Amino acid sequence: MNERVAVVVGGGSGLGKAIAQAFRTEGYRVTVADRDGAAAKTVAADIGGAATTVDVTDEAAVAALFTEVRDREGAVHAVVNTAGQSSWSPVVDHDVPQWRQIVDVNLVGAFIVLKHAGRVVADGGALISLTSLNARQPGVGLSAYCASKAGLSMLTQVAALELAPRRVRVNAIAPGLVITPLTEGIQTIPGITEDYLENTPLGRAGTPDEIAGAALYLCSDHAAWITGEVLDINGGAHLMRYPALHKHLAGLL
Ligand SMILES: NC(=O)c1ccc[n+]([C@@H]2O[C@H](COP(=O)([O-])OP(=O)(O)OC[C@H]3O[C@@H](n4cnc5c(N)ncnc54)[C@H](O)[C@@H]3O)[C@@H](O)[C@H]2O)c1
Repeated sequence: MNERVAVVVGGGSGLGKAIAQAFRTEGYRVTVADRDGAAAKTVAADIGGAATTVDVTDEAAVAALFTEVRDREGAVHAVVNTAGQSSWSPVVDHDVPQWRQIVDVNLVGAFIVLKHAGRVVADGGALISLTSLNARQPGVGLSAYCASKAGLSMLTQVAALELAPRRVRVNAIAPGLVITPLTEGIQTIPGITEDYLENTPLGRAGTPDEIAGAALYLCSDHAAWITGEVLDINGGAHLMRYPALHKHLAGLL
């Protein structure tokens, strides 16, 4: 039985929920953290883990999360941060406070998690962030999201360099389209899913379990020589072009 300890931030929904379930199945003791405390509690109750309410933009709360888990469980071996948000607006129209808020969660929040997870994680542990296909492919209207995820890819590499002396591995997963509460709304927009799939060589959306499997692998000893990697999991979509969101949204805005 695996006796390792994992913290899944953003684990109340979507990919984080699937990751929390997969880590528990693998035998990790799991703490589910989310700004939606009720969702975190539901997932934790389901898998037999602990739950905490944390907003990744609140440094004191994030610091307390990791010291509390370490003190309660004795160590922290794996941290997966999936907390993320998106907005849609052309650059010339984008509301500045909203742009800041997306970057605050997706980039500054991810930095705060890496900072405090990096302080408490056991030597030889693993830290994972969720970036996106949009870290490398621009999408019209997604400036805040794309910029924040591209920044997170580079942050991953810097943190990997800095934490390597303690054998702490820092990686990121960059999914393409996976249907979760974050993305289910786009399915209602005519043509958009078809455009995604036409630009996905393997011809389908991903599943949360496929992302969870990669997170498990990256935190395992099988990946002991992998750090600073941003792993594209997107059915080959990074080889094609990003959907023309503005064309599909044109009649709706
Ligand atoms: N679903 C996809 O197709 C897809 C594709 C590429 C990247 N991603 C990335 O994967 C991650 C997970 O996405 P998802 O599809 O599971 O979304 P989701 O909306 O289903 O889940 C995100 C979770 O993060 C939590 N969260 C949001 N802001 C937070 C904050 N400030 N502090 C703490 N928790 C916060 C939410 O409460 C929610 O439980 C995100 O970073 C997203 O950008 C998703």
